[in-house]
Amino acid sequence: MYSQAKVIAGGLAHIPVVIAVFYFILTTFNKRALKFVEEAKTKKPEAKAVEPKKVTVSKTEAPKKEAPKTEAPKTEAPKTEAPKTEAPKVVKKKHADVPVNIYRPKTPYEGTVIENYSLLKEGAIGRVNHITFDLKDSDPFLNYVEGQSIGIMPAGEDANGKPHKLRLYSIASTRHGDDFNGNTVSLCVRQLQYEKDGETINGVCSTYLCDIKPGDKVKITGPVGKEMLLPDEEDANIVMLATGTGIAPMRAYLRRMFEPTEKEKNKWNFKGKAWLFMGAPKSANLLYEEDLQRYLTDNPDNFKYTKAISREQQNTKGGRMYIQDRVLESANELFNMIEDEKTHIYLCGLKGMEPGIDEAMTKAAEEKGLNWSELRPQLKKAGRWHVETY
Ligand code: FAD
Ligand code: A2P
Repeated sequence: MYSQAKVIAGGLAHIPVVIAVFYFILTTFNKRALKFVEEAKTKKPEAKAVEPKKVTVSKTEAPKKEAPKTEAPKTEAPKTEAPKTEAPKVVKKKHADVPVNIYRPKTPYEGTVIENYSLLKEGAIGRVNHITFDLKDSDPFLNYVEGQSIGIMPAGEDANGKPHKLRLYSIASTRHGDDFNGNTVSLCVRQLQYEKDGETINGVCSTYLCDIKPGDKVKITGPVGKEMLLPDEEDANIVMLATGTGIAPMRAYLRRMFEPTEKEKNKWNFKGKAWLFMGAPKSANLLYEEDLQRYLTDNPDNFKYTKAISREQQNTKGGRMYIQDRVLESANELFNMIEDEKTHIYLCGLKGMEPGIDEAMTKAAEEKGLNWSELRPQLKKAGRWHVETY
């Protein structure tokens, strides 16, 4: 049995033990706490080291970041091109039989010049020639369709002693050729001439082409281009806006539509309306005029021909008459045609005419309560707005 005094004495005897235990716990905790703080301290610099790392990473990643940037267009390209690739897909499918790049710059075809004559009348400005090449010896055969271009590699070398680069020219003949035998190609070439420091500079390839003689051999590449192809539909309407040599593809279209022997060959019975807006500096500069007048006489219901002779006619503001001024004059009729989904518009010639045409189309559209900036991409997407300017 325990007495009260024994219990108290026993309790007192435990006090040092309890104190010792408390002391032990305290010191152990303190040590751990210190270690934790130390660890935390040593970890901080690590954390700091990560930060510079991050900077380095961001530096080393910079190209990575840029990569997505540069890749962004890549990845975006398919995205933005998605509708485009879809469109070409349709076009490709539609025009799968259209030949391209049968001859490339490394192995061009050497065609023989058949004829080379001036298309201009007395008093005209500059030099514009119609040039025909023989294709019959080409193997593989250099075939093409209306609206395509070929490349010409002028003889000689450039200032660096390298062979001249090719220049593109719109094909001015139908696939059957000017003689309807199907083995020639024709071009309509203006000699480039401009003044620099009081000197007349002649364009390399255009001068070469205007100077070549029947029998000469010329390096030809192509054909290329699917932008300016005619629709297959015989009841399509074709609006053509041309300045100068921009008439080249239009000449091929019009021959396909209206030239009797060509029609017999192509069996394409054009039933739509063709409307040519033609810009030339002077009457003497109008190209293929006799043929066009003949088509007008023979096809009054299917062909309309509107000229803008810039240095002989004036627009309403007293300035030079350009095709865009004619477009404005005909706004109502033109937009009635454009509203018909069978209508295609082709623009070819001077690059400089594009803003003017756009402005005229904008005004003309407004008169019909239409918005050209919305309409044009729609026409383009539908494959009805075709542009080849240079
Ligand atoms: P270059 O010797 O190559 O000289 C041209 C260079 O001269 C220019 O790049 C520019 O640097 C300079 N230059 C030009 N004008 C001036 C100036 N006023 N002042 C200062 N420097 C100037 N042409 C046709 O004649 N008919 C066509 O059917 C035709 N179709 C084409 C189709 C397509 C798809 C393209 C892209 C072009 C077409 N061209 C056409 C233009 C043709 O390809 C040549 O660009 C043109 O004949 C001039 O070539 P060049 O070798 O004579 O001139
Ligand atoms: P101009 O030269 O009188 O200013 P070519 O190729 O035979 O010279 O013909 C081109 C035709 O296009 C010319 O009548 C020329 O007029 C005209 N032209 C020039 N600049 C423009 C333009 N910005 N918009 C429309 N037509 C133009």
